Amino acid sequence: MRFNVITIFPEIFDSLKYGVISNGFKKNITSINLFNPREHVETEYGSIDDSPYGGGEGMVMMPEPLSKTIESIPNVGFRILLSPQGKIIDNNLIKNLAKKSTLTLICGRYEGIDERFIDSYVDLEVSVGDYILSGGEFGALCIIDAISRIIPGVLGNPDSIKNDSFESKLLKGPIYTRPKKFHDKNVPEVLLSGNHKEIEDWRLYQSLKRTLQRRPDLLDDVKLSKKAKKVLEDLRSKLIL
Ligand SMILES: C[S@@+](CC[C@H](N)C(=O)[O-])C[C@H]1O[C@@H](n2cnc3c(N)ncnc32)[C@H](O)[C@@H]1O
Repeated sequence: MRFNVITIFPEIFDSLKYGVISNGFKKNITSINLFNPREHVETEYGSIDDSPYGGGEGMVMMPEPLSKTIESIPNVGFRILLSPQGKIIDNNLIKNLAKKSTLTLICGRYEGIDERFIDSYVDLEVSVGDYILSGGEFGALCIIDAISRIIPGVLGNPDSIKNDSFESKLLKGPIYTRPKKFHDKNVPEVLLSGNHKEIEDWRLYQSLKRTLQRRPDLLDDVKLSKKAKKVLEDLRSKLIL
């Protein structure tokens, strides 16, 4: 998977050298190529932004430096603009994007980008949520991180993805490690029992309980096993939410 990023702050992407995601770059499973529109300015003062037509606050990124930048990319692939007005990212979108071999992520700044650039060059606008960031870079990092970790070979143990929240459309339940007692709180006895069947049942129960309490919307289109349906019915009758 090749990630191209159009950004006026390429240094922000230095953070990709930390953590498990960096394995993908080290092993050449993933690559990142940064393109700075400041290198494509032709205005007298070298600016990439200008005041909005019609008046108003802030500055708007001009279309030409961005179009010259994207045109300079040899393999551009699927073009994504980070935008608070886009489709909100979820696990399904990440999985679909992970099927592409090249993504170009365009990071806005200031008040945003001239609409004519968006019309001509963007395949999909995506948002990290209903709030405003000062730039698209942190959204692009979220996408690169989330996609990289599901690309085979990036994570040391591929099974660690299998039980993550949202994989089965449910939230994962609570997890524990040493010590057995912390602040007068004990690790649930069942997890120390060594009984795999009981542990699995407990995890299913906790996962359904947590999803019902925190994200009941996820249960609307989930396919559950007979056993899970029974547990959920039970939980629904008992839990005061
Ligand atoms: C300050 S924002 C511009 C917001 C714009 N004036 C509006 O109201 O829709 C600057 C840039 O940050 C990025 N950005 C801000 N919020 C975002 C979000 N929720 N998801 C993805 N990108 C976002 C976009 O690239 C945007 O062009």
